[in-house]
Amino acid sequence: MYAQMVDTGAKRVRAAEEMDADERAFQERIDRGVKIEPKDFMPEHYRKTLIRQISQHAHSEIVGQLPEGNWVTRAPTLKRKAILLAKIQDEAGHGLYLYSAAETLGISRDQMLADLHSGKAKYSSIFNYPTLSWADIGAIGWLVDGAAIMNQIPLCRCSFGPYARAMTRVCKEESFHQRQGYDIMIALCRGTPEQKAMAQDALNRWWWPVVMMFGPPDEQSVHSAQSAQWKIKLFSNDELRQRFVDQTVPQAEYLGLSIPDQALKWNAQRGHYDFGQPDWNEFFEVIKGNGPCNRDRLATRVKAAADGAWFREALVAHAAKHQAPQAQKAA
Ligand code: 3HC
Repeated sequence: MYAQMVDTGAKRVRAAEEMDADERAFQERIDRGVKIEPKDFMPEHYRKTLIRQISQHAHSEIVGQLPEGNWVTRAPTLKRKAILLAKIQDEAGHGLYLYSAAETLGISRDQMLADLHSGKAKYSSIFNYPTLSWADIGAIGWLVDGAAIMNQIPLCRCSFGPYARAMTRVCKEESFHQRQGYDIMIALCRGTPEQKAMAQDALNRWWWPVVMMFGPPDEQSVHSAQSAQWKIKLFSNDELRQRFVDQTVPQAEYLGLSIPDQALKWNAQRGHYDFGQPDWNEFFEVIKGNGPCNRDRLATRVKAAADGAWFREALVAHAAKHQAPQAQKAA
């Protein structure tokens, strides 16, 4: 199976003859579609790759609450406020599932949060852009959660059991997130000319950051080849990006909005939309920490952790106090 080198990303994968017996047996389980569970043998690099991806995915869920939280007090109706609150609460739950899935690999929650707060760990680039109008909340649900679904559905079938199972629950809730966002966009596009203009402005500002969200082009992807061999990544960055564009263009047309890409054109031969390239310099600057809101997002997370320290300490003290007698009784 691995006679040919899979050499699509910046990092090439090793062929079977370069693996030791344990790794070969592990790869054969992966190839047979067997789910890997936390207590199973796994190469250290597989474990580290999962900790990197799952913890950054969890960070994305938690930091992703901030742009939307900005509009809870300014939602146009009580109903929209309640829907937005429910969505933001869901994202917190997604973060918890994912932190728990990462913890099964031997990393602590404290370590993951320390890596986020120090800037060592990433979170999705998309959450470093500002939410300037209510239409941004619609665009985030429609486009960002729409892109997240595109990227997360395959993860329901990835090789690591806890991650795949967490994703199944997450994806059900993401569908509600995407629908409520699109519902906001429909209401704006059927509203006054000013409201439709607000929706178009949001699409203009969010389109390219969402296209970048799928990661760098395949030929610049550091981890894709190895993640594909381990069935962590079932589709490449560009494949999922293309699926997202193909799905979203008709939705924009239905709204009567135009996508800000001069190169966008249906290619009947390919059966897909041709589209332009994002500004990849912008992408790499944002993931280096130089996006419009990176500093603000991180400072908010660091402050929240500091402000909540007393509560976590009280919970730990309470648990220790109440567990001690039970432990003595059991002894
Ligand atoms: N934002 C930030 N960093 C990104 C990125 C993005 N959009 N895309 C890629 N990167 C980083 C990678 O993390 C990697 O850096 P690292 O080595 O320091 O981790 C580097 O760029 C090279 O990229 P690769 O393509 O080689 O990296 P991956 O193979 O990990 O692919 C990914 C990137 C597609 C994001 C993959 O990690 C993935 O599928 N992750 C799980 C899904 C996820 O995290 N989605 C984020 C959004 S969650 C969300 O939207 C919440 C929803 O409720 C709204």
